[in-house]
Amino acid sequence: MPAMVVAGLQWGDEGKGRIIHTLSKRSHYVARYQGGNNAGHTLVLGKDDILALHLVPSGIVYPKVQCLIGNGVVVDPKALHEEVEVLRKRGIKSAGRLWVSPLCHLIFPYHIKVDHYLEDRKLAIGTTRRGIGPAYKDKIARVGVRVADYLDAKLAARLITDNICDKLSSLAPANELKQIESDIKKDYPVLSAFLRRMMADVSVTLTDAIRKGRKVILESAQGTFLDVDFGSYPFVTSSNPVASFAPVGVGIGSQMIDSVLGVAKLFTTRVGTGPMPTELKDSLGSEIREVGLEYGATTGRPRRVGHLDLPMLRKSVRINGVDRLALTKLDTLSGIKGFKICTGYRLNGKVLKEPPDGRSAMDALEPIYEDVGAFTGDFTNVTRYRELPASAKKFVDRVLREVGVPAAILSVGRGPHNQIVLDPKYLKQWL
Ligand code: IMP
Ligand code: MG
Repeated sequence: MPAMVVAGLQWGDEGKGRIIHTLSKRSHYVARYQGGNNAGHTLVLGKDDILALHLVPSGIVYPKVQCLIGNGVVVDPKALHEEVEVLRKRGIKSAGRLWVSPLCHLIFPYHIKVDHYLEDRKLAIGTTRRGIGPAYKDKIARVGVRVADYLDAKLAARLITDNICDKLSSLAPANELKQIESDIKKDYPVLSAFLRRMMADVSVTLTDAIRKGRKVILESAQGTFLDVDFGSYPFVTSSNPVASFAPVGVGIGSQMIDSVLGVAKLFTTRVGTGPMPTELKDSLGSEIREVGLEYGATTGRPRRVGHLDLPMLRKSVRINGVDRLALTKLDTLSGIKGFKICTGYRLNGKVLKEPPDGRSAMDALEPIYEDVGAFTGDFTNVTRYRELPASAKKFVDRVLREVGVPAAILSVGRGPHNQIVLDPKYLKQWL
């Protein structure tokens, strides 16, 4: 029973990278199922040795793990080429172990141009400006270019010319359009050869692997509240990070998934604009940001920081079908005074236990807070739950009671070893 989805339950940056880093050591496959290089998964490989991954699955650091990019992902071929190059320079080989589905839609410079245009002039939601939304828009509008289409040179040239003309003729002068087209042509020989070497049927590979009892991790990017269906629309990304999308995003039957691990940080962060009911705009927020190094791994933007929002987690747990939690960054809260949990919201005289769907309702929420008491001490190397300070355990226990799902793992530091296993039985085959 070896296929597990690891999904984010907040606004991304929950620490999925560090959890997958730990769990992938003994797995056979790690596959990404949505998003693109808007993601930033930070892995701590050693003291002062940090690796930020954007498109490549987090299993890549272990030479025996096969890494797959599923059909649900949008791929910027240039960015992927650069990422593979960065890995190569660090001695991490991808040849023969990093594969891309022929069905992945590609991101081209014109998507990035449109993303910039929308951000600068129209719909500023604080995107990562990587062309993600425009590329998914093309996919749904049936004008996108997939990896398989790109490898057919004639077809690719026609589709790209049509797309540039269609999208950019009102945004950029003719000479700029020509320049964009000739840049794409110039990159074609290198990028098409690169993708050709990496193309593999992800659906067939994973189905066979799971049937043979191989261990497979399906890796989400972003988080539930950035989900285009369930997130704080329109301030969301353009894909479905929720766990239920994983089988679609890699092409396997949904009955093949047997567990969903939901990753949640013990406070809340968000990058970009949009509602954030528990946001801290004061010095407490900056303190947590500095201690927790809460800066975007992709864009370097300071993350907005807030108290732990439990209504969000309740909703995420249901939508993702979470059966165990992975809680992260307990260490960041050590020594922080005045940190609270939000147990519900008040809206028009009513108490809500989950965030509402409406845009204006989201803006009007009044969080109901409770003090959880501070805790102190350096417990980053603690490996047994009972060795944590009593007040820290009280806080974690309270969170678990409120959310209603047990935790399998608790991260108390940046590295893959700074983790406390709470449910060894559940994680038996992964550790
Ligand atoms: P996009 O995905 O670049 O279109 O950005 C849409 C929204 O999702 C913006 O608010 C981004 O800040 C946010 N976002 C996208 N990817 C990530 C991520 O990996 N972590 C956190 N926020 C993200
Ligand atoms: Mg991130």
